[in-house]
This record gives sequence, structure tokens and C-alpha cells, in this order.
Amino acid sequence: MISKVYTAALMGIDAYKVEVETHAEGNVPFFTIVGLPDNAVKESRERVVSAIKNSGYKFVYQKRITINLAPADIKKEGSSYDLPIAVGIMTTQEMIEPGKLNDYIILGELALDGSIRPVHGSLSIAIAAEKMGYKGIILPEENAREASMGSPELDVIPAAHLTDVVNFLNGQLQIDPFKTDIHELFREGQKSKFDFADVKGQEHVKRALEVAAAGGHNIIMVGPPGSGKTMLAKRFATILPPLSLEEAIQTTKIHSISGLLKNNHGLVATRPFRSPHHTISDAALVGGGKYPKPGEVSLSHHGVLFLDELPEFKKNVLEVMRQPMEDGYVTISRASMSLTYPANFLLAAAMNPCPCGYFGDPTRSCTCPPPQIQRYLAKVSGPLLDRIDIHIEVPAVKFKELSSDRKGEPSAKIRERVEQARNVQQKRFESETDLFSNADMQAAEIRKFCKIDEVGQELLKTAINKLGLSARAYDRILKVSRTIADLAKEESILPEHISEAIQYRSLDRDIWS
Ligand SMILES: Nc1ncnc2c1ncn2[C@@H]1O[C@H](COP(=O)(O)OP(=O)(O)O)[C@@H](O)[C@H]1O
Ligand SMILES: [Mg+2]
Ligand SMILES: [Zn+2]
Repeated sequence: MISKVYTAALMGIDAYKVEVETHAEGNVPFFTIVGLPDNAVKESRERVVSAIKNSGYKFVYQKRITINLAPADIKKEGSSYDLPIAVGIMTTQEMIEPGKLNDYIILGELALDGSIRPVHGSLSIAIAAEKMGYKGIILPEENAREASMGSPELDVIPAAHLTDVVNFLNGQLQIDPFKTDIHELFREGQKSKFDFADVKGQEHVKRALEVAAAGGHNIIMVGPPGSGKTMLAKRFATILPPLSLEEAIQTTKIHSISGLLKNNHGLVATRPFRSPHHTISDAALVGGGKYPKPGEVSLSHHGVLFLDELPEFKKNVLEVMRQPMEDGYVTISRASMSLTYPANFLLAAAMNPCPCGYFGDPTRSCTCPPPQIQRYLAKVSGPLLDRIDIHIEVPAVKFKELSSDRKGEPSAKIRERVEQARNVQQKRFESETDLFSNADMQAAEIRKFCKIDEVGQELLKTAINKLGLSARAYDRILKVSRTIADLAKEESILPEHISEAIQYRSLDRDIWS
């Protein structure tokens, strides 16, 4: 007898149908699975047999059982095939009636006692199941919420144990589909525990972060330990325009594939903020590995990636960030295929001005020999720094400011101005297909949209010559000036906008030498 059960495999952030065909015949005890990598087959076989037996069913080991996972050219990884394989076998042994099998996508890992363990990526799989026209999806209880978020028409059937699945398919147990009010979840999830109101003083840094948020510019903060760089970075995402529901679901898909969603808060409803440690490997940062997984650049998709202590990151690690920063996605090439994960994030970086941290500090003196400072700064130069439009110095806050009760401006207020400036950009780029913000402009668009008058030209020339700014800084300054003008609701870029933008190039200057 042959049975067919449907499940799914992930490729990048999307899911594809996989057929589990089970063929049982003859009377030679034999059990094989084709279409899975070697180790996974072995492990899955053991788990499936134990789970069936320990759930109180008789596993008839007297037939030749062949399981084929098709199509062969889709790479199948992970343990989510256990449950569909068990269902396939039990169908050929007439313990499950095949009637409902065509209506459902089935997935789940089995424990040896037959209980069902959560798997990764169920949001993507449920969305695909609905698109393919399935009535429902049978999956681990813990994954029910995330699966129910993107596919309102799909019956999401949560199962805790193999016996539940058997009884459900045989019509002996009713399981109500798990429903989520996605709009409610989205509303609730939008509160952030961070706010700029908590940050005292540092008005010029907040201003720089506002400009960065408004134009989609990457930013680096330079300042001594304890000056509030981490505190400020954590609040950066709170002044970006709110996520749309569509963006939230896309980012949630990536977190679902990485297994990062918890049962009770399924949706990533605010812009993600990720802060990987500087010891991170390149695979963990951009994605990849033996069983490919999205990296930090993808987990921060539509949000903020914070690289604290930037010079401490290994050079090769920073190098692999070039592609995602250029393209907004990551491609991972493997022997058999290549995968793509979205990775459109704003970079916020932080660093000390020197190895000891106190170069230029008015209250403490720096103990670093100048060549050491040079080497330290050289670590962040090059391609990555080239993609950071705004450099801002973050001095230690004065005690007087820290001890004052005055609250800063709340994030919501700053965000209103950011959104206004984003609307101006949206109109400007309506006819330019792949531009969203000023930071995305390339040379041609800069010439078109960042025209400056003679006074402005003169100002820029003086800055470049006197401050020793690099020629590369020129385009960055124009883009940032455009954003400052947009925030000021000015059609033209005025000299005052240019002089503010010039101030955001401190790492280009030779002030440390
Ligand atoms: N401007 C500020 N307003 C309020 N608290 C601050 C400010 N700057 C620093 N702090 C306090 O100092 C702590 C250390 O700041 P942190 O952001 O970790 O500094 P850094 O990352 O620059 O080393 C913060 O957790 C916060 O409690
Ligand atoms: Mg810090
Ligand atoms: Zn120092």
C-alpha cells in the first residue's frame, strides 16, 4: 500500500511543498527513508519508531517500508519530518484513515514518547499552505500562534501528542483551529519599553540620530565609556517610522525560521534591535552555517543592527557585511543551491575614541601612545565606514545634567518629524523605483536632487580643504544635507543644512593625528 502525506521545507524565508510517500509491501522487515541527508534519516527513523510504539500502537516491522521525500532537489533539513513520516507509516498500516490527508500540511518533531516538539519556520510554512489552497496545517502546539498570524483562512490545528494527530485524522477527536486576532496582537506589541525621554542632555546626539532616522542614514557614535552610547542606540528604533503589518510579518518570518519566537509573543511588532557581541562569527552575523540560518543582519531586517565596540570586530566579519549593506539582502551559496535572506537594516555603531577610551575627554587623560590610536582608528576605516553617513561624538554627560529632573523630548514627538521627512522623500522618489530614503541615493540621484547654490559650494570646498575631508565625504554630506533640509521642510538645501552635515564627518578629519 502507498500513502501520501504533505509537509513543507524552507528555502530562504519561503516554504515549499514536500510529499512524503510511504510504500509498504512484502514481508521482509526493512525500513528506509530516501530524500533526507544521512544523519537526519537515521535519527528520524529511530524517533518515529519509538514514538509510534510508545504511544501504544503496534509498529508492524514485518514489511518493507520505503519512504520517499519528494521532490529530491529541495534540500530537507531539520526534524520537522518526523510527524508526517509517522503519519505516513501508520496510514499504510491502517491505523490512520487516509481521508483527510489531502487537506493538511503536517509537520512536527517527535519525542521518543510520542509528544510533539516545536519546529522552526512555521509562519512561512502556514503562509505557503494557505497559498497552495490547503484547508489546514497540523503542527506542534507551541507553534500554533506564529502559524496563525499570516494566514487567516487556514485551519491551524495544534497537536501536543502523536495520539492527538491520529485521533484527529480518524475523526475521533475534534481540535478547534487556533485563531489569532492579528490586528489586536499588532497593536499590543507596538509599545516599546525604551524612550528618548529617559536620556538626559546629549541634545546634539539625539539630533544626529533624528537626522539618521529621517534619511535612513547609518550612524556611528564615538565617545568614552559610560557616555550613553548603548542607551542612545537602544532608543534609535523608537524614532523610526512604525512598522507596517506587512513588514512586521516579514521580519517575524525570519525570527520564526531562527526559532526565536516564544509561544506567547508571536509577532515582532516593533522594529527589531539586535546587538551582537564583537566576538560573533561571520556566519552568525550574515547567515549561513552547516544548516543555513539567517544571521543578525537578517534578524534586524526593517530595524536596527547595533555594533558596539566596532573596532573590536574581526576584520573578515566586517567585510562580509558589505553585500547586505549594499543590496539589502544576503545570498548564501552552497554546493547544491543558493539561498537568499532579506537584510535591510539601519546600522548604528559605537566606538571609543581610542583604546583606553578617554582621548579628548575633559576630565580624564588618555594614556594611549599616538600610533596605537592610529591603529585603532584604522580598524574601522575602509568599506564599512564608507557606508556610514553620520559620525557623531558623544561626550560624557555633565553631572549637572544627569542629576536634573528634566525629562527629554519623548520618542513619539521625534518620530513625528521623522515621518514628515520620510513622506517628503517618498514623494521625491515616487518615480525612482528602488529608492526609499535619501541614504539610498546614488551618484546620479545626488546630482538630481541635491543641488546646492554657490554659497553652499563654497562652504563645501572650504570644508574639504581645511578639515581634510575625503572626496568620498562629499556625496555623504550632500545626502545628509538633503535630509536636514527635508526635516526643515525646505525645498532647497541651504548653507545652514550643509554646515550641519559637515559636522557629522568627524572620523574623516585628521583630528586624532
Ligand atoms: N544622557 C544620559 N541620561 C541618562 N542616563 C545616562 C545618560 N548617559 C549615561 N547614562 C547612564 O549611564 C549608563 C551607562 O551608559 P551606556 O549607554 O552603557 O554608555 P556607553 O555605551 O557609552 O558605555 C546608562 O545605563 C545610564 O544609566
Ligand atoms: Mg556601551
Ligand atoms: Zn586613550
